[in-house]
Amino acid sequence: MRLILLGPPGSGKGTQAAVLEAKFGIPKISTGDMLRAATQAGTKLGVEAKSYMSAGKLVPDQVVIGLVEERLADKDTAPGFILDGFPRTTPQADALGALLAALGRPIDRVLQIDVPKELLVERATLRRTDKRTGQIYHLKYSPPPPDAELEHRDDDREETVKKRLDSYESLTAALLPYYDRLGVLRRVDGVGKPEEVTARVLGALGVSS
Ligand code: AP5
Repeated sequence: MRLILLGPPGSGKGTQAAVLEAKFGIPKISTGDMLRAATQAGTKLGVEAKSYMSAGKLVPDQVVIGLVEERLADKDTAPGFILDGFPRTTPQADALGALLAALGRPIDRVLQIDVPKELLVERATLRRTDKRTGQIYHLKYSPPPPDAELEHRDDDREETVKKRLDSYESLTAALLPYYDRLGVLRRVDGVGKPEEVTARVLGALGVSS
């Protein structure tokens, strides 16, 4: 299965991608995670990316396209993959389409997780991640265990989250008509418990829970 998860910041893409990765045994490819890893490692790419991410802006297309092209050349993606947070602009979607066409591995499904804007700020600002395991928690909806080593993402402050939502609306939302035209888009209601959303995601993929 070759799948793209779309949705605004905080809609639950990362949470659902982790569940699908475990269920289907195919890798989740998160450009946000890759960029944060580069930032932490202090690489040239990471330093460049950090200035965009901390400002709530998208990292330039060529940078993320290069990262994804490299990752899709890895053998573990041959049985399938889950793209989380990529593509985010029309040039990224065009580049991905061209790459996958050349590889003879077209996208099977694009799932948009819909969550109303008023819930997204709370979801992002109260998110915490365990830095050892990468497990995503929420201080109100998915509380972490007492021994978790929690991190608060730099770009999860309210003002930056609002800028990320603006970027989503001005650049990424255009991918909905883009993939709808290709006949691969399905929309899933992202409100409710994470397990309820998972059941809807699996339903949209035609797979039983
Ligand atoms: P990225 O890391 O991709 O962030 P994002 O798309 O903004 O999405 P988030 O990670 O904020 O949210 P999510 O939808 O994964 O939600 P989650 O499951 O964590 O990108 C970060 C930055 O990197 C970008 O701003 C940009 O600068 C750069 N970047 C990345 N990719 C790029 C690209 N392709 N092009 C250019 N730049 C790029 O859930 C959120 C919270 O809600 C958690 O606390 C979770 O526990 C909770 N939650 C999840 N589901 C539920 C539920 N059903 N009910 C209640 N709470 C829930």
